[in-house]
Amino acid sequence: MKVKAPAPGQIGAEVTDLDLRTLRPEAAADLRGLAYEHKLVVFRNQKLSRPEYVELAKKLGRPQIYFQEHYHHPEHPEIFVSANVPEEGEKVGVAGTGRFWHSDYQFFDEPLSFTMVYPQIRPAGRGTKYVDMERMYRELPSGLRRHIDGTRAFHEATWYYKVQPEDMDKAIIEIMREFREITPGAKHPTTIVHPVTKERCIYVSEGFTTAIFGLTFEENRQVLHELFEFINREDHVHSHLWDDGDLLFWDNRQVIHRSGGQLRGDASVSYRIGVYDDLPFYTNTNDLESPDVERCSPIIPEN
Ligand SMILES: [Fe+2]
Repeated sequence: MKVKAPAPGQIGAEVTDLDLRTLRPEAAADLRGLAYEHKLVVFRNQKLSRPEYVELAKKLGRPQIYFQEHYHHPEHPEIFVSANVPEEGEKVGVAGTGRFWHSDYQFFDEPLSFTMVYPQIRPAGRGTKYVDMERMYRELPSGLRRHIDGTRAFHEATWYYKVQPEDMDKAIIEIMREFREITPGAKHPTTIVHPVTKERCIYVSEGFTTAIFGLTFEENRQVLHELFEFINREDHVHSHLWDDGDLLFWDNRQVIHRSGGQLRGDASVSYRIGVYDDLPFYTNTNDLESPDVERCSPIIPEN
């Protein structure tokens, strides 16, 4: 196995000369270590079948079963399918996922430690973008930092719910109410301390974070707008342009990500597996206040 570390200040290690099909279970800790250290790891020239991919996830940790079944691969529920073309004539998975800044499962109490993505049909120019949230904490202007230190933020997925055939004839408000029953949202510290690196990262994303507790509605709009404007700045973004055989593995505590660089009509099939390391997602739980939240999203009436 050859590891090329990223340039100083950058993220993303590159691993070559390693066939993940033959990974020894005891070597999996080294790969997790690379993800903790470099936040993102690209494994080149991989040739895994679906069962081998699931097997790899089991060596790296505990594979996740995504909470919405229609994302599952029919034979392997661990595989979350992002696809806009059928497989053997059947619609499999969901098209156009993750086109917004987010961290996977941020809107649940137990967010996802790692994400693996292994494209199967890759349109030319497809990329995935990342922002290093540990660096963002270090470089955040002090005026913004004072709004987030010692606070908690609220995350929800409501705005990215994908309408399904059974939603036909329902009002949008009804669809949202039902989805919110399954995903009421989650509170997490606005900055989190990583259980392995012990470093602090900002833990917000434009896609899922709708409020910081303790700020008024107007303050939240202003602060979140400034925060996302800073985080999403082009010079903060690391882009991975996919090559055939690439398999990516990243640490959701330390980076946010979004898909990008692909035209909507291009055929695309990508297999994701979420992996839990079963460590606490963060270790700073007791330095927080918890006043009421005023979300930066329309209030949906109860009935
Ligand atoms: Fe994602």
